Amino acid sequence: MTKDRLAWFTDARFGMFVHYGLYSIPARHEWVQNYEEIDPSVYERYAERFDPDLFDARAIARTAKESGAGYAVLTSKHHEGFCLWDTATTDFNAVALAGRDLVREWVDALRAEGLKVGIYFSLLDWHHPDYTVDRHHPQRNHADVAGLNADRDMARYREYLHAQVRELLTGYGPLDYLFFDFTEPAEENGLPGKAPSDWDAEAILAMCRELQPDMIVNDRLGIPADLVTPEQYQPVRPLKRDGELVAWEACQTVNGSWGYHRDNLDFKSPDMVVRMLAGSVALGGNLLLNVGPTARGEIAPRDREIFGEVGEWMRRHDGAIRGAGPSDFTPPSGVVYTRRGDRLYVHVFDWPFGLLHLPGLGGRVAFARLLNDGSEILFREVPPSQEAFNMIPAGPEPGTVTLSLPVQRPAVAVPVIELTLSEAS
Ligand code: GLC
Repeated sequence: MTKDRLAWFTDARFGMFVHYGLYSIPARHEWVQNYEEIDPSVYERYAERFDPDLFDARAIARTAKESGAGYAVLTSKHHEGFCLWDTATTDFNAVALAGRDLVREWVDALRAEGLKVGIYFSLLDWHHPDYTVDRHHPQRNHADVAGLNADRDMARYREYLHAQVRELLTGYGPLDYLFFDFTEPAEENGLPGKAPSDWDAEAILAMCRELQPDMIVNDRLGIPADLVTPEQYQPVRPLKRDGELVAWEACQTVNGSWGYHRDNLDFKSPDMVVRMLAGSVALGGNLLLNVGPTARGEIAPRDREIFGEVGEWMRRHDGAIRGAGPSDFTPPSGVVYTRRGDRLYVHVFDWPFGLLHLPGLGGRVAFARLLNDGSEILFREVPPSQEAFNMIPAGPEPGTVTLSLPVQRPAVAVPVIELTLSEAS
């Protein structure tokens, strides 16, 4: 069942993550309430300032689609507890405060653009009066944490939590992906985190399976589900659970902050993003690239530019990404391989001078072309015995296919050579 559920996901390979909430107003990272230890009674005043007047879900969906993403995930509620949907569980929500059911707008827009629908939901809730002060809570350094927790009842919070998940699972039509966040039981500075039992994670997962059986659920309930979600790093090997390969998705920001961070200009280059995408697919994973819309709800020009550049690359190279996955061949250094059917895609991170030696492909290549312009790439298999004498010591091994590349690197984020493979002889 999991494999079927994941079919569209492993085909899409690339998604857009959208972090939007009250934290977009201070614009100092979505953990600003934690970092600056802002009391919930003070932080909630941002709700009076919440004005998503430029939030255009259709425009965001179009940006995602044009970037080559096959799905997109919106934060319905982040750790701050502010809900972007029409919830009956609390007035701390976008309908009550701004007259907008942004989750409704989101799901409608994605479906209209033919994208798969993802929702992020934070299990943490720093606003709820029964959510116990723990290692991540903004009041973790309060003089009397025990006193704060004395009247808090996590059983009441679990009722609230389950009611909210149920609203999302029943009120917005078929969902394709629910990204829960996050479960970290470990103690820090004498305060516990939250364990799966704090959420009754098994019951939440069972609810998801009952109400949305085709929907993908991630691993952040703290119990195994459909995929693993490494965050803000790129895995260096395929991911396995109990020795079996698992689906995974690396979630990444463009500048280290998930929420809009006005003064953080430390952006990843589009080339780096494309390398992360190709590198993820080469190891059997997906990339979920984040954008944090401004307080008014629009994607900032700087972020739109990055997604636009990735889209420009995907426009010519999506065959090497969508529906592609790892290959059994071992690439040389400075190169990653993705494979789709009889096509092997050579993503050249370090452009060589004239020749690129691909070991282990002897007798397997029928044709080679640069993907960006479709131009033929000539290649040869030269057994070492026929190599020039000064290329034999520690030169290419038998079975190496040598591509003759233009000295000038193609002007694309990552040049890709598409090899059409012939059957092993
Ligand atoms: C971490 C952060 C959270 C962010 C999430 C994205 O859990 O706490 O702010 O939304 O990663 O995966």
